[in-house]
Amino acid sequence: TDYDFGLVGLGVMGRNFILNVADNNFKAFGYDLDQEKVDALKTEGGNLEKVNAATDIETFVKALATPRKIMLLVPAGKIVDAVIENLLPFLAKDDIIIDGGNSFFTDTDRREAYLQEKGIHFFGSGVSGGAKGARKGPSIMPGGNKEAYTHVKPIFEAVSAKYNGEPCVAYLGPKSAGNYVKMVHNGIEYGLMQLTSEIYDILKKAVGLSNDELHTVFDTWNKGRLQSFLVEITAEIFNQKDDKGDGRLVDKILDKAKQKGTGKWTSQNAMDLGIPVPSIDIAVSMREISALKEERVAADALYDRPEIASIAKEDLIAMAEEALYFAFITTYAQGLHQLADASKEYNYELDLSVIAKIWRAGCIIRAGLLADISNAYVQDKNLNNLLLAPSFVPKVQETVSSSRELVAFAAKSGIPMPGLSNSLTYFDAYTSSKLPLNLIQAQRDHFGSHTYERNDMEGIFHTEWGA
Ligand code: 6PG
Repeated sequence: TDYDFGLVGLGVMGRNFILNVADNNFKAFGYDLDQEKVDALKTEGGNLEKVNAATDIETFVKALATPRKIMLLVPAGKIVDAVIENLLPFLAKDDIIIDGGNSFFTDTDRREAYLQEKGIHFFGSGVSGGAKGARKGPSIMPGGNKEAYTHVKPIFEAVSAKYNGEPCVAYLGPKSAGNYVKMVHNGIEYGLMQLTSEIYDILKKAVGLSNDELHTVFDTWNKGRLQSFLVEITAEIFNQKDDKGDGRLVDKILDKAKQKGTGKWTSQNAMDLGIPVPSIDIAVSMREISALKEERVAADALYDRPEIASIAKEDLIAMAEEALYFAFITTYAQGLHQLADASKEYNYELDLSVIAKIWRAGCIIRAGLLADISNAYVQDKNLNNLLLAPSFVPKVQETVSSSRELVAFAAKSGIPMPGLSNSLTYFDAYTSSKLPLNLIQAQRDHFGSHTYERNDMEGIFHTEWGA
């Protein structure tokens, strides 16, 4: 009865997380139906005096000190509901269940309301950083009952990643706030991954960079303003030898990207909110297009491609660095804009400066840029869009022309760059005081009497067009 923390699901993430908890001198008890996983945990190393595990749920729950803090690291969906039902008979009032998976945020709201009736607190709490992060320090995004969070806080602050000593975890808001923030984190992750893959594509196709050169380019970028986890691992990927043959592994990997849904949910919900996130939308679409491999192969044979325009290697590399930086900024801007709006719509009361801060280390989208982003939100808590932050105007202004040149070069050469061009188009549209959508209003009124407003007088108008 004196274990500080319980963990359900001893897969790779769960095992790593529980060992991290024990490393930080909390006593942790794990639960999994699979005896092998329980055994693996007990022998895997780390601070084993602090770790125990069982395949029996009653033993597990009874080992925990009250209020119990039980984290679930199980696949999102029905399993989460099943685990909750299995736990319930053994729980007491004020116990806390934390869902650390990528659950859909409305599921979290439903579970929170259901458990609240029973006096149990439920936290939807995204965990980012993959297996290594879970072991060494992830970024954690909890949402739920604020008072109950005080019980979880010391453990989460100890196990989370640190940025200059500051823990990459914070209470984010009520109900599904934490899950929602993690969902958008993943949407941004999709966007940044798409952008890096496009830059890789053009550097390879247009100026024939070898894997060694690609490694050097990304490695160099990672030492500058593009410093980020995704750029860092990209550099590493180009170095990896094929373990089953000659050459580099990256060249043998089938170009069909899978997805588990969080990027799609981000786009879907952005549409529901009416907030444009085209750099994320296109990243989801590109995974879909990539999956249509056979159709792509058939279509490729039907059409000619333009010749790739000529350009000096060094010029393209310099242009690509600027364009990628520009597109990273506009992608973060879109995701954060969505969070700002979702906060109002769902009453999350999110503090975007805090969110940017807990993303500075531990998570997949961690980047040097996030320190600048969090500063921009510290300066103006009500900032709707990063593109409106005075500190970002010069960063964007300086890099947008390379972005234009690169997108134009890619279009002329027939190299798809939908992420970079969507980022540019988003920027050009968002910063246009005048757009041609007056014509759309005219068309709507013409064929459907949908009415329109005027820019020179108040009111709602309709016209008998052509009369
Ligand atoms: C993280 C990741 C993680 C996610 C993977 C896979 O923050 O550690 O976002 O939670 O599961 O990135 O996502 P896809 O399978 O959809 O690419």
